[in-house]
Amino acid sequence: MTGPQRLVHPAAAASASVVSSDFARELLAGLARRPRSVAPKFFYDAAGSALFDRICALPEYYPTRTELALLAAKAGEIAACMGADAEIVEFGAGSSRKIRVLLEALKRPQRFVPIDISADHLQGAASALRRDFPGLEVLPIGGDFTRPLALPAPLGRPRVGFFPGSSIGNFTPDEAVAFLRQVSELLRGGGLLVGVDLVKDPALLHAAYNDAAGVTADFNLNLLARANRELGADFDLAAFAHYAFYAPQRQRIEMHLVSRREQRVHCCGHDFDFAEGDAIHTENSYKYSVDGFRALASQAGYEPGPAWIDAQRLFSIHWLALPA
Ligand code: AVI
Repeated sequence: MTGPQRLVHPAAAASASVVSSDFARELLAGLARRPRSVAPKFFYDAAGSALFDRICALPEYYPTRTELALLAAKAGEIAACMGADAEIVEFGAGSSRKIRVLLEALKRPQRFVPIDISADHLQGAASALRRDFPGLEVLPIGGDFTRPLALPAPLGRPRVGFFPGSSIGNFTPDEAVAFLRQVSELLRGGGLLVGVDLVKDPALLHAAYNDAAGVTADFNLNLLARANRELGADFDLAAFAHYAFYAPQRQRIEMHLVSRREQRVHCCGHDFDFAEGDAIHTENSYKYSVDGFRALASQAGYEPGPAWIDAQRLFSIHWLALPA
């Protein structure tokens, strides 16, 4: 099969301001490389975040309800690990539903710093938290938590981190270690509470990323819709198929967008040619065993503490302590 080509359009220079956004830069680079790939963080514009909220409520998508139930069931033990008067930093906070369960259980939580790439989503959630927890200072930060972060000066005691939803699974294991190392500098002397999806029957995993209502397909395709909205690209959404599968050797779900036909797409003054069957790799979602994740956390300098697992062994929550 002849490889698809990337052609530079003469109008490229005119699009310089559009190309200066992170999304534009990374999308153009991702469409130019082989195999094509785009980082999953670009799913989360306002439309993508709303679609992700719908995924979380799907019958097939067990992680959200399982993690919420586990947080509620173990809130007392978890709060004891996190300590009193806590300053909590949440990475990828979204709608902040899960932190509410912890805030109810924590003793005198002082400050909550949610960080999310979708700033609109964050502001709405922050206002609701301020209303419902009047003693709590809420300082939302709109930004990419995978980049080095400037946080407000800590209150009197070490911060604790919260990274729910198995978003850590959207990194490769090497990236996960690098991320854990990076945030350990912010949390030194405290610790991190992290939600991790578990390896399990591949049929359950497959169903969770191939829901009958097609919401995950819309979420995946929203990446192209976003490029059309923000960058004036002309992706024909009907000409790309959502394709998600579990790869057991790598213990990960892979999501792709597969071209249904030969086509040319224009974006920011560049032309991208797709043959029928060409794919854009849009997401990995790694699954771990409890011991496998504890080993990864140790590699990043944490001291794994208790791990909580639901009765069906679908999902795990880990307390990872950080020596001062
Ligand atoms: C955010 N992240 C943990 C989700 C996951 O399961 O990997 C994103 C997602 N992709 C498709 N469905 C949900």
